[in-house]
Amino acid sequence: MKQQVRIGLLGIGTVGQAVARALIERHDVLSRAAGTSLVLQRAAVRDLARPRSLAVERLTADPAAVASADDVDLVIELVGGEEPARTLIASALERARPVVTANKRVLAWHGPQLAELAARKGVELRYEAAVGGGIPLIAPLTDDLAANRVLELRAIINGTCNYVLTRMASGERLEDALAKAQQAGYAEADPRDDVEAVDAGDKLCILLRLAFGASCTPAQLHRQGIRGLDPRDLAYGRELGYVLKLLAVARRTEAGVEARVHPAFVPLEHPLARVDGAYNAVHVVGDLCGPVMFSGLGAGGDATASAVLADVVHVARRLALGDPVPPPRENGPEPRLLPMSEVRTRCYFRLSVDDEPGVFAQITRVLAEHRIGLASVIQREPGKHGAAEVVLLTYEAPEAALATAEEQLARLSSTRAVLARIRVEAPQ
Ligand SMILES: NC(=O)c1ccc[n+]([C@@H]2O[C@H](COP(=O)([O-])OP(=O)(O)OC[C@H]3O[C@@H](n4cnc5c(N)ncnc54)[C@H](OP(=O)(O)O)[C@@H]3O)[C@@H](O)[C@H]2O)c1
Repeated sequence: MKQQVRIGLLGIGTVGQAVARALIERHDVLSRAAGTSLVLQRAAVRDLARPRSLAVERLTADPAAVASADDVDLVIELVGGEEPARTLIASALERARPVVTANKRVLAWHGPQLAELAARKGVELRYEAAVGGGIPLIAPLTDDLAANRVLELRAIINGTCNYVLTRMASGERLEDALAKAQQAGYAEADPRDDVEAVDAGDKLCILLRLAFGASCTPAQLHRQGIRGLDPRDLAYGRELGYVLKLLAVARRTEAGVEARVHPAFVPLEHPLARVDGAYNAVHVVGDLCGPVMFSGLGAGGDATASAVLADVVHVARRLALGDPVPPPRENGPEPRLLPMSEVRTRCYFRLSVDDEPGVFAQITRVLAEHRIGLASVIQREPGKHGAAEVVLLTYEAPEAALATAEEQLARLSSTRAVLARIRVEAPQ
């Protein structure tokens, strides 16, 4: 039985600081859970001169030295970003040191290669915190749902976008809601990765591998962020019985697995519709368990540290007991990723049109040509510029047909502009 497990911590930022603090202040609780004393042996940051609220001993600006130190048994990577994080993780694994990380970027792009390296070296690479922050997600998907074939997964996995869309539902403009998210500390000074759905795409890649055995990179996903959304669409959506979310969707169909991130209307009565503000949630439908939802704080130092430390306890317990790491699980046959053009969804259109007879006949003719059924219509009287606003909600149709219909609707003589096209999800 190993008396202590010595930890090398890379990064003492938002998450690293909460992890370091817990390792010091909750030493007894964590050590009891792990069955061995957890010791914060060494740590690395970029800027040694930066004032820190927590004194950590043996602090260095050389993370590679910590990742490869002889007196470190377990490495926690909380530096973030692609490099040098990927190289640091690989170098720790090369030296047969288990690694715990919260780094979705590295896992989305290099996860399979790093997992293969870890397996070759007989050590663990764990990443509970990489998706959904403090929400237990990776372990439940890997272990607790192992008997299921996952049929559908829909996730709200970017707190910044969910916070912004929640405010827009009350009529706020996107730019104002984003500024509030920055003031509240939910959004970065440069929020592009959140707003353009890069972050959600990285996380969906990780979930796709776990839940569907699809080994894709973020470049293979359809990704559309929240820029350009108008609070008017959220108001019309509500009239029709929907709330707007940035959704990451993976769905098994006969033709393959859909994988996409985009704004989507969700029925008001669905549990995902009630996930507001900076909260995250992942809704999974398994063929045995039916629908289950995991929700909670998707970010923040303490919440994310909770997930990091769960992995640390797990690894340390194995190290303490000297238990071997089981070989990686066999994946089934690689599923086909469905091109976006083949995905079928319902759709919401908002058009600005001339207020004249025959407009509606033109619109319905275009939809009929593409075999797109019309489920609901809202029509508003013209405003001061003489343009009327028409909102259409379609039945399910292939993406290719919906995209072509959008182009043709835009070219109608009576159409001033297609102001919005938003997909509508109909989850179980
Ligand atoms: N923040 C969250 O709520 C959250 C939630 C889930 C997952 N995550 C993930 O957790 C990881 C850490 O995020 P964070 O928010 O804690 O980041 P952060 O606040 O930016 O902290 C990064 C830390 O890494 C250090 N660092 C950066 N580059 C370095 C380098 N080249 N060499 C040595 N140290 C370096 C920084 O040093 P200095 O302190 O000297 O600058 C800082 O201590 C990321 O992968 C992130 O995606 C974060």
